Amino acid sequence: MRSFMEKVFSADDLNRGIFSARSADTNPPYFAVLGKPISHSQSPLMQNAALEEIAKSDVRYKGSRYFAFEVSPEGLSDSLDKFWNKNFAGINLTIPHKEIAAKLLSDMEDGARLARACNTLLRTSDGWKGFNTDGFGLEEAVRSSLGRDFKGSDVVVIGAGGAARGAAFHIASCGCKSLLIANRTQERLDRLVSDLKNSGFECYAASLADCGKLVPENSIVVNATSVGLRDSDSAVLDFSVLPKSTVFFDMPYRKGCETVSVLSARAAGILACSGLPMLAWQGAKSLSIWTGKPMLGELMLKTLNES
Ligand code: ATR
Repeated sequence: MRSFMEKVFSADDLNRGIFSARSADTNPPYFAVLGKPISHSQSPLMQNAALEEIAKSDVRYKGSRYFAFEVSPEGLSDSLDKFWNKNFAGINLTIPHKEIAAKLLSDMEDGARLARACNTLLRTSDGWKGFNTDGFGLEEAVRSSLGRDFKGSDVVVIGAGGAARGAAFHIASCGCKSLLIANRTQERLDRLVSDLKNSGFECYAASLADCGKLVPENSIVVNATSVGLRDSDSAVLDFSVLPKSTVFFDMPYRKGCETVSVLSARAAGILACSGLPMLAWQGAKSLSIWTGKPMLGELMLKTLNES
């Protein structure tokens, strides 16, 4: 039998008496990640390891659990009401819910509002409040794994989808020296660049084909596309044209092996890292928002690396 932690639940399971009703005083709080597909998610593994650690020094979290729920985009709004009536204190959202949730919520912190995407919901007395911890996760991953800060750096973001939007707004908010965005499809690229400019951030656009030649010395290049998730993918860029002083962060990650872009960057002599540390640090920030406890990013990353 699969363990409770590995099981994928549906919103209908919330009606079946498996999860206790809201009662903040008596029951340990639940947490959940909602997405579709969701069975691949590593979040329950790392979040439950961190909850067990927290429970060692705070009995309120003894028995707290983090679950994976498969929820369709059409079902998100109703599901959030159901979670509200149960003892869930926090929710993570992944594909395809981040941008949908930003349209549903009235209460969002600035980062989520700017990116128009939420990956973290906190229960408040008035309802769910939206946060976006992806940008923080990226920043902390680049700092801890590549030794670099966005502040004062020339940064290149590849991609213009939901993940790239969150990354670009966060990087711009960090006070980077310059921001170049490149994407395969021009229309989406133009929309992101104009949204950044309308929010007061200076940035430049380039086609995916041209951007390699435009990367300045000592840049941080971030791949925020989905290129690298599939076996058949090739590297997102021709790394041989980039300055050797570039560092490369690949948001995709693969269980048990490096992504094709990271391998290709390293072969060109470029320091490179794939997305697992970002997963750990965005999750650590979410749990800290829900519990008020210090972040346990290193424990979460160790749990992921050892799984
Ligand atoms: P997410 O929410 O994960 O960002 P998304 O919104 O579907 O997902 O965005 C996917 C990103 O990956 C986009 O920037 C997409 O480029 P297009 O706007 O041109 O579609 C990019 N992408 C996906 N497959 C790609 C490929 N084979 N080559 C280049 N870019 C690709």
